Formats: sequence, structure tokens, C-alpha cells
Amino acid sequence: MTHTPDTDVPALRRLHPDPATLELEELYAGLTLPAGTAEQPAWVGLCMVTSLDGAVSVEGRSGGLGGPADLLALSRLRGSNDVSIVGAGTVREERYGPLTGGAARRADRERRGLAPSPRLAIITSSGRLDPELPVFGDPAERPMVLVSGSAEPDALTTLAGVAEVHVIDEASISPHTIVERMVSLGFRRILCEGGPRLNQAMLASDLIDEAFLTLAPTAVGGPASRIVHGDTEVRRDLDLISVLEHGGDLLLRYRHPRHRQLTDH
Ligand SMILES: NC(=O)c1ccc[n+]([C@@H]2O[C@H](COP(=O)([O-])OP(=O)(O)OC[C@H]3O[C@@H](n4cnc5c(N)ncnc54)[C@H](OP(=O)(O)O)[C@@H]3O)[C@@H](O)[C@H]2O)c1
Repeated sequence: MTHTPDTDVPALRRLHPDPATLELEELYAGLTLPAGTAEQPAWVGLCMVTSLDGAVSVEGRSGGLGGPADLLALSRLRGSNDVSIVGAGTVREERYGPLTGGAARRADRERRGLAPSPRLAIITSSGRLDPELPVFGDPAERPMVLVSGSAEPDALTTLAGVAEVHVIDEASISPHTIVERMVSLGFRRILCEGGPRLNQAMLASDLIDEAFLTLAPTAVGGPASRIVHGDTEVRRDLDLISVLEHGGDLLLRYRHPRHRQLTDH
């Protein structure tokens, strides 16, 4: 762990590119995801935290893995997008709440021309989401739910009471359909917040433009999933863009090779 000389607060170190010591507050400050490119109508960023041995959670949740820099990175990313998409498994396990954010983040988003808070879109085939989950707790911040038309009618009726429901006529909702629906609603800056099975589908469709990964200095073992999980291998190679370190956490940023000509955003 690195410490600044006169406080006991870990420094934020940029290891690549251009090594430098930074204030923690500088971490991804002012980040706004691109609203697509000339070739594609949307941009998808992925954010995840993992243990050294690849575990996606401790005791079923990701919250215990990363330190303060990881939490700040997630907040910055939720300050950078139009919408966050998340799989139903994550909403259930992590007990997601609305993405309202604090006053400072809301004001910062508005300064950059974004809505005060990002929308949330939950992806589910079954539609089985408890209406008492915290994510449905604020009527002013109703999440969208993209649900398969094969879901039980009762589940759809329950969801309609607490969410903006988009019924999609596909058993497993294709990532292209998810992105097209977001774009049709005007949401071009998309942050994928996991979990592993939604990530697998997004990666298989080659829709991840950028990945923000925190590697926490802890090994977990046990049955936890990896950050991308499915039945078939879906190898994708990404370019390393930056490496930051804070309190032993490594904050890694990668980008799809199709964006090599892009100047930093
Ligand atoms: N470390 C991290 O950064 C991080 C981030 C997120 C989650 N996690 C962890 O990941 C674990 C959950 O893993 P998971 O793989 O179950 O997460 P997940 O991908 O969020 O959830 C899987 C469920 O989401 C729905 N889903 C995903 N893709 C779909 C698609 N293309 N079409 C229709 N429905 C789709 C299905 O819901 P239905 O079953 O309702 O049909 C599926 O069963 C939790 O322990 C959580 O803590 C960790």
C-alpha cells in the first residue's frame, strides 16, 4: 500500500500511461462515455470488480471485494452514462437500489449535459423479481425491466405495478435487442453492470466497447462465479488503456481494438 507522506491516506497512483501520483478525487473525474461512434449507434462500457483468483463476489456480493477507489470508480461510471443495464440475478443478490446518486454527482452530470441520474434497465427472462426489492422502492425512479414474452403473465402483472415494463418477444433477450431498445429510447451511453451471465451474452455478441475492471488484492476461492460466465468460450482480446493503483486495488481500463483510432474520452 502506498501512502502520501503527511497523511495516512493511500495515494492514487497512475502506473500506465504516464506514471504519476494523483488525488483520489481525480479518478475518472469528468468521465462521460461516448454516445456511440460514426460506425455504431451506442457505446457499451462494462464495470466489474474481481478478486485475485477471479471471484466475482464474497458471500454472494461484490461489495466486499473492492476498496474506496473501486466504489468511487462505480460512482464515476454512474456519472458517465445514460443507462445502466443489469441482469436480474445481480438485482436479486446485490439488493440493488435506485441509481439516484448524491447531489454532487447529479449536478456534475447535468453540467455535462446528462440527465441528473442514469436510468436502470433490468434484464430478465423469467420476470421473477420481488416487487419489494429496494430497486422498486422509489416511484420517482422506476427502473425499466426488459422481460421475455415467455415470462409468466402473473410476473408481468406484478412488474407493471413497480416498473416500466418492456416485453421482448425472445426467450433469452439478445444483447443486440437490448442495445437497440436503449438507443430507440435515446440512451446511447450504456453501462453494463453485470452480472456474469449478462456479461457472457454481451461479450459473445461483441458489444463491449470498453471495460473498467477492479482487481482486488484478495483471494476468495469457493464457488463464486467469474466475471463472465456461460457454457461456451467467447474469447475477446482488449487493449489496455490505463492502470491505476489505490490501496492495493488495481483499476484497469480496457478498450475494444475497433476503437484504436479513438482519442481518449
Ligand atoms: N463483482 C462484480 O462486479 C459483480 C457485478 C455484478 C454481479 N456480481 C455478482 O454476480 C452474481 C450473480 O451472477 P449471475 O450470473 O446470476 O448474474 P446476472 O447475469 O445478473 O443474472 C443472471 C440472470 O439475469 C437474467 N439475464 C441475464 N442475461 C439475460 C438475457 N440475455 N436475457 C434474459 N435474461 C437475462 C436472467 O434472469 P431470470 O433468471 O430472471 O430469467 C438470468 O438468470 C452475484 O453474486 C453478484 O453479486 C458481481
